[in-house]
Amino acid sequence: MRFKSFISLVSCLAAVCGSSLAMAQSGENTYKQVCANCHATGVLNAPKFGDKAKWKSLIAEGQVELTGHAYFGVRGMPPKGGSPNLSVEGFANALVYMVNNSGGNWSPPDAKTLAAINNEVEARKAGLKK
Ligand code: HEC
Repeated sequence: MRFKSFISLVSCLAAVCGSSLAMAQSGENTYKQVCANCHATGVLNAPKFGDKAKWKSLIAEGQVELTGHAYFGVRGMPPKGGSPNLSVEGFANALVYMVNNSGGNWSPPDAKTLAAINNEVEARKAGLKK
């Protein structure tokens, strides 16, 4: 594990953190920088990273719905994970990383899925959905 991250650090530096690598890692990085603050230990009862039992019903809501709701904010979960500059895409990729380490198997959202997530967020903003 440590060796692997050393290797990726080296290849990252070698490529001056080339965009494709940075893209591939951005979900994980965002998770570590933002989401892990609460989701690593379950602060305020946040569903814990890797807790498959807790994530099961959330994952079952589907990617568009769960991502949209969480980005908008729900109960103890702050909008954008409390990181005002986080884009929908950045947030979605971080969630894919968390889900895929908690029993799910999601892909990073394509343009169509992102558009649907945006609609979900907008609907919440407009108060069309609670
Ligand atoms: C300040 C703490 C905090 C941070 C940072 C945070 N979360 Fe959360 N999150 C929570 C809490 C607390 C809940 C549980 C909300 C509840 O059910 O009351 C939650 C719930 C969720 C849920 C489930 C939402 C639902 O519909 O029940 C998702 C998905 C989620 N977070 C994703 C993320 C992602 C992705 C990030 C990082 C980009 C993130 N969170 C950052 C505290 C946080």
